[in-house]
Amino acid sequence: MNKNIAVILGDGIGPEVTMQSVRILDAIAEQYGHQFNYGYGLMGADAIDKTGNPLPDDTIDLCKRSNAILFGAIGHPRYDNDPTAKVRPEQGLLRLRKSLELFANIRPINTYLALQHLSPLKAQQLESVDFIIFRELTGGIYFGQKEINAEKTLASDLCVYSREEIQRVSHLAFQYAMMRRKKLLLVDKANVLETSRLWRAVVQEIATQYPEVQTEYMFVDNAAMQIILNPKQFDIVLTENMFGDILSDEASVLSGSLGLLPSASIGTHTALFEPIHGSYPQAAGKDIANPIGSVLSAAMMLDYFGMQTEANHVRDAVTWTLQNGFVTKDIDPVNFYFTSTIGELICDYIGNKIPGVVNKANIELRKSTII
Ligand code: IPM
Ligand code: MG
Repeated sequence: MNKNIAVILGDGIGPEVTMQSVRILDAIAEQYGHQFNYGYGLMGADAIDKTGNPLPDDTIDLCKRSNAILFGAIGHPRYDNDPTAKVRPEQGLLRLRKSLELFANIRPINTYLALQHLSPLKAQQLESVDFIIFRELTGGIYFGQKEINAEKTLASDLCVYSREEIQRVSHLAFQYAMMRRKKLLLVDKANVLETSRLWRAVVQEIATQYPEVQTEYMFVDNAAMQIILNPKQFDIVLTENMFGDILSDEASVLSGSLGLLPSASIGTHTALFEPIHGSYPQAAGKDIANPIGSVLSAAMMLDYFGMQTEANHVRDAVTWTLQNGFVTKDIDPVNFYFTSTIGELICDYIGNKIPGVVNKANIELRKSTII
């Protein structure tokens, strides 16, 4: 297959983790006879610095022409600490999601046996945790009218949802539920919010079209607690934009590191694949960031292209690195490997270049001892 991939490196650690995914995609292309063509676009603080615009038109055009988008990370502390900034990096990503109508953000949460000790939760709670958060991505409080009065003493963000917006992401979530354990949970705050009551009404209607799916409802405050108390109970978790943002960061704690989690944003136009972590500016340029969130996002992209064998090959390679202790600093602050070393090992695994017995001593030569 021949695919055009728009690559947006973005800010902070975005470039270094995304470039590992690009090499891994190249290793897959070589191994399976595909051709991936990359076009690079700007977004975020990087784009503001170079063009004054967090999402230049060229980037939108590039994305629309491509078969998929691989994105790194967005954000810079310069803007985080300046609430008066008119132009912000995050506007780039939000505008891109909106202009491509990427209404469903899919965030799988699972745990790795080898990393269970990293989670603050007990191992028995973590076994067989496997659920997917379906986060609505182009509506709600993120995109409603924002206001602040002239005196800067009063501000508001409007949370708006239409039936159609709820329906389209809900259908997708129910379709996934049918392919999995046929269990769907809507997370909302229907005891307080009008938008949540609309979500509940619409999801109740849609549920009748999927009679095999066991549909349940939970308030978001309780869901936040249940993710820690008993995460095994979840399968498909459907929720609105901001609840999904918050719950997915919380859920990442189950896997041991935020750096491991991938996501896919699907909708009307070109789908986008990105790790759920942020730009982690403190680590930028040091070759210490965890590339796995990005690499697993690239695997989700391969799934999306219908290349399941290839996607599973990437996931197997990732599992192999984790099981053999080839991990970055977020996972093992003492014996850690560089971002680029992990990328190289995954490429070698895909290219069948890892010997049956791993000569760890050779690989360990590339281990960091200085940072
Ligand atoms: C995410 C991020 C973004 C969001 C930010 C960077 C705008 O936190 O993708 O989860 O809030 O959606
Ligand atoms: Mg977030």
